[in-house]
Amino acid sequence: MDEVIPKSDLSIDYDFNQHRQKQERKNGFLGQPLGQSFDIDPVRIAILFSGRGSNMRALAQSIADDILGAELALTLCNRPDAAGIDYAKTLDVPCAVIDHTHYKTRTAFEDEMQSHLEKEKIDLICAAGFMRLLTPAFVEHWQDRLLNIHPSLLPHHKGLNTHEAVLAAGDAQHGCTVHYMRPAMDDGPHLVQKSLWVKGDDTADSLAARVLELEHIAYREALPQAIDHIRFGKEQMGYAPIDNGDNGDNGDSPAYIGLAERQPKK
Ligand code: GRF
Repeated sequence: MDEVIPKSDLSIDYDFNQHRQKQERKNGFLGQPLGQSFDIDPVRIAILFSGRGSNMRALAQSIADDILGAELALTLCNRPDAAGIDYAKTLDVPCAVIDHTHYKTRTAFEDEMQSHLEKEKIDLICAAGFMRLLTPAFVEHWQDRLLNIHPSLLPHHKGLNTHEAVLAAGDAQHGCTVHYMRPAMDDGPHLVQKSLWVKGDDTADSLAARVLELEHIAYREALPQAIDHIRFGKEQMGYAPIDNGDNGDNGDSPAYIGLAERQPKK
């Protein structure tokens, strides 16, 4: 029978995604030849969610299956009735349910979150459908270690009801953005954007469903950059997150041409 190797003892083989390999070819990887294995402590990830949890689920599966050098260490939910909790409890990591209504202030709620994050030695937080505004103090404490996903092509349509806003504005394109969180809502450098064409017969519900599919892909694509950023810092990464709203298209969605009028229904 095959020996079962504890996860923390696994070496990380640097057969990385294309971007990493390109960087390594250019810069070398810490002076080591390509293809060599390294023993590196995994980056420990917490996922925050509030409801259905489909992004939490997609992320948890990606971390387990696709993402090297990271491990899921905690899920955290602020609503005790959230549908995603049942799935989160099937994962082999603690699921903290912290009902924000039980705390008098945002800071008191965040102190409780912080104690769970510290207990699990979290390196990177992924807010994934987490519907609670975080205080500037919390966001600044986690600067460049706190990601969010937003269902619009930021900086367009910050806040809630983005699908309705896209339709009302007559935008030709819509999509989602994974970004580093900053104190201002839905602000911060972008890691990945995915876009789609708005169809003439789209409704807010159809857009929500189509954008959600992109969200699940976008977070997976953003994780390696965020993990590298934590591990090596931006100086050694050799690249920086996108910090404007007109980039991030990766070839499998229409080229980003601005939010022009969409085509009328034929
Ligand atoms: C997602 O569209 C997310 O971007 C938004 O709320 C939705 C949450 O969906 N903030 P789920 O809970 O991840 O399924």
